[in-house]
Amino acid sequence: MDASDAARLRELDRTVVWHAFSQMAEYDGLIIDKAEGCWLTDIHGKRYFDGASSLWCNLFGHRVPQIDQALIEQLGKVAHVTNLGMSHPVTIRLAERLTQVVGRGLEHVFFAGDGASAVEVAMKLAFQYWRQKDRPEMQRTKFLSLGEAYHGDTIGTVSVSGVSLFQEIFEPLLFDVLRGPCPDNYRRPEGMNEKEACEHYLQAYERLLIEHGQSLAAVLAESCIQGAAGFVEQPRGFISGLARLCKKYGVLLILDEIAVGMGRTGKMLALEHDEDASGDTIEPDFLCLGKGLTGGYLAMSATLSSRRIWESFLGDYAERKTFYHGHTFGGNPLAAAAGIAVLDLLEGRSADGRYSLAAIAANSECFREVLESLKALPIVGDVRQLGMMAALELVADKKSKTGFDGSLRTGKKVCDHATRRGLWLRPLGDVIPILPSVLASRQELQWVGQTLHQVVTDSFQTAPS
Ligand SMILES: Cc1ncc(COP(=O)(O)O)c(C=O)c1O
Repeated sequence: MDASDAARLRELDRTVVWHAFSQMAEYDGLIIDKAEGCWLTDIHGKRYFDGASSLWCNLFGHRVPQIDQALIEQLGKVAHVTNLGMSHPVTIRLAERLTQVVGRGLEHVFFAGDGASAVEVAMKLAFQYWRQKDRPEMQRTKFLSLGEAYHGDTIGTVSVSGVSLFQEIFEPLLFDVLRGPCPDNYRRPEGMNEKEACEHYLQAYERLLIEHGQSLAAVLAESCIQGAAGFVEQPRGFISGLARLCKKYGVLLILDEIAVGMGRTGKMLALEHDEDASGDTIEPDFLCLGKGLTGGYLAMSATLSSRRIWESFLGDYAERKTFYHGHTFGGNPLAAAAGIAVLDLLEGRSADGRYSLAAIAANSECFREVLESLKALPIVGDVRQLGMMAALELVADKKSKTGFDGSLRTGKKVCDHATRRGLWLRPLGDVIPILPSVLASRQELQWVGQTLHQVVTDSFQTAPS
């Protein structure tokens, strides 16, 4: 591309395109022309390692031959048909496959286009369920969510989220939500080990359920890691314990696996890690998937729900039990074709098995070795990892875990520096998520580790003491 074309695009990108979560007065982002595997190439021909997997969704990297082929074949049939009153074989097959891989009695699938919509669907289904089940419980109108949660940017999902920076301005529009503590395994309550912290947080949730259980439509939670909260890791056993409490107090549970599900952590669902630790089986009433569902190719999300919920919506038309909710592109066949290709790969159906869950779990060990070397850096307070998702938390004081003054924008500076070196990362304050393609090679992961080591060290040398 010649220089004047590139300059014009850059200008338009800064003045016409309104970028998500970006201050447009200072915006100066990359413009990507193409990508292959882990690497993005911008319009100037410069290559960048996609260290955020295009916001945590691009599972196997870019231009995956099997997904490309599935899309080409589907394009030869039809790109889109509505799911209001009709369907397409790939959409039906994907729904069936999802119920099979998720299991847990979640037998029904509602498709939408993005993660926020999937959570919003679960919330509305839960709310409506109590109003039309056999013995209605009309007083169940509230939701309980985890402190610091993030479930999306619609008004409903902002209401149940707890990231004050994203919420404050919209406060007058939000509905009232009950919020528990943020289960945080890094900043545990003073003097507690992981097991004690888990018990401590669960006791707090049990108290809330005892006091408010009868007014709750559902409890919402991410499994294992609260992503946008800053990759806050729950103590092991927490999500199993929360599921147990929901059953005990008869409250529905919505699990949001939009960021952590679909193989990203080396298991189909992140909750399986917690099941391994606790020995429990987690059976939520709803499970939300998005992001990696199409390998990060197309916008699609899914809300899976149990038979109990489904049956409460069945009835004569005049009973008004219908779920009056839908999205134009829900169940889009192109996205569904990508979804089926992703499931085939995760289940090891490619000739060499290199995309399988087992291969991802093995790669996570290599990733772990690479991350290990970052722990000793003076401003790295914590390195958190679950499978192929990880994050560094930068702190001013390692011992007290005190963060930097937010106005210094330390995380942003580190990421800008990494970008100049060809590693694209997007910070969450001073937490730096690192989500390479789950198939990044050992060599690529080592390069990511070395580059991070260098840019964090440089930042430390220039950070105010
Ligand atoms: C846990 C979680 N839930 C919901 C969402 C919202 O998904 P989307 O951006 O596709 O609406 C996100 C997005 O990052 C997420 O991390």
